[in-house]
Amino acid sequence: MRLFCGFVLFTLILAIIISYEYLADAVENKTLLARNHSDLALLNVKIEKLSAQVNKLQGITSKPYPTVRNLGYSDRKRILVTGGAGFVGSHLVDRLMSEGHEVTVVDNFFTGSKRNIEHWIGHENFELIRHDIVNRLYVEVDQIYHLASPASPPHYMFNPVKTIKTNSIGTINLLGLARRVGARILVASTSEVYGDPEVHPQSEDYWGHVNPIGPRSCYDEGKRVAEALCYAYAKQEKVEVRVARIFNTYGPRMHINDGRVVSNFIQQALQNHSITIYGTGKQTRSFQYVSDLVDGLVLLMNSNYSSPINLGNPEEYSIEQLALVIKESVGGISPIVKQTGVQDDPQRRKPDIKRAKLYLGWSPKVPLSHGLKKTVGYFEKELKKEYAKELNL
Ligand SMILES: NC(=O)c1ccc[n+]([C@@H]2O[C@H](COP(=O)([O-])OP(=O)(O)OC[C@H]3O[C@@H](n4cnc5c(N)ncnc54)[C@H](O)[C@@H]3O)[C@@H](O)[C@H]2O)c1
Repeated sequence: MRLFCGFVLFTLILAIIISYEYLADAVENKTLLARNHSDLALLNVKIEKLSAQVNKLQGITSKPYPTVRNLGYSDRKRILVTGGAGFVGSHLVDRLMSEGHEVTVVDNFFTGSKRNIEHWIGHENFELIRHDIVNRLYVEVDQIYHLASPASPPHYMFNPVKTIKTNSIGTINLLGLARRVGARILVASTSEVYGDPEVHPQSEDYWGHVNPIGPRSCYDEGKRVAEALCYAYAKQEKVEVRVARIFNTYGPRMHINDGRVVSNFIQQALQNHSITIYGTGKQTRSFQYVSDLVDGLVLLMNSNYSSPINLGNPEEYSIEQLALVIKESVGGISPIVKQTGVQDDPQRRKPDIKRAKLYLGWSPKVPLSHGLKKTVGYFEKELKKEYAKELNL
């Protein structure tokens, strides 16, 4: 009996131990399972986040590029555009890319912006190099459009020494590159080489009336030396040069702080601020839309004409008239006010474009009203973006 009781007790203890072990295992498994569940949930959240990022990246990379022509190897050129991230440069890049050429943009982003050319980034025909042209550059190209230089008075007066260096040393570097690789080079000069002109309209054989020590001289004389360098390299080193004397140009992608009359008036009118005229308002200018300029630049580059050529719209407007046209085009209630004039402001500006007509078959096509409509639309969007930035939206 004693033996039997001992056996029962032993079996009972064994059973308790086994069920305890079993119970402990079950509890542990349950905890593990719960931990696994929460790990899994965390993993799922991470996967979802990652796939959202992948989709976003795919959305960016698979964004279609603007259409480009399929040019044969012999027609396709390797083209360098200095200042290609700027206002004029980026429109020129669009044209050259859409024609099917291989385009390299060189820019230091002083006034230019990656946004102007972002639609080409990653395209097999396109390359972007951040570089200051005051330093030498080594690339293999067939044509060079040399546009790198600040262009509006507030920008070129910001650092006058740098403006002179860009137009003198920078132009020497580009002409040297053209000589080394046998490329043709087009230099973007300006109507400012005529200064405050005594001849009207300005034809290319007029030598100009420039104050060599005034506030605008860093730009005016910088461009005059760039032209002199072109013809020195052409004569001495047989470099093929083209020189475009560009008159006031406007259009989308102008810098928001450009400070020139068209962008100033449009922004003032859009914000219902006073439209400010410096001086009497009787001074005249002519305004060409950017697509007309791009047509002229490409025609000039591919022509046989090597003397300077004016590219501008000969329709002349007084600044007062322009203020009224812009006020009407924008609408709104801005008053037009006059302030003291600025030093060395040219009183009359109008290109004589007989040469361009004769040698390039070029004349501007876009009427002011049409060009202004597009430019107003562009500034409207830019101002909205600025406003949203300010409000941190
Ligand atoms: N827009 C006009 O009305 C006008 C009139 C006459 C001449 N131009 C000439 O046309 C060219 C383009 O003018 P824009 O209106 O497009 O001006 P912009 O300021 O929009 O473009 C100039 C570009 O050159 C770049 N740049 C400046 N200095 C540089 C440097 N040292 N190295 C590399 N890049 C540099 C800027 O970052 C910018 O992208 C300029 O040479 C200008 O003098 C323009």
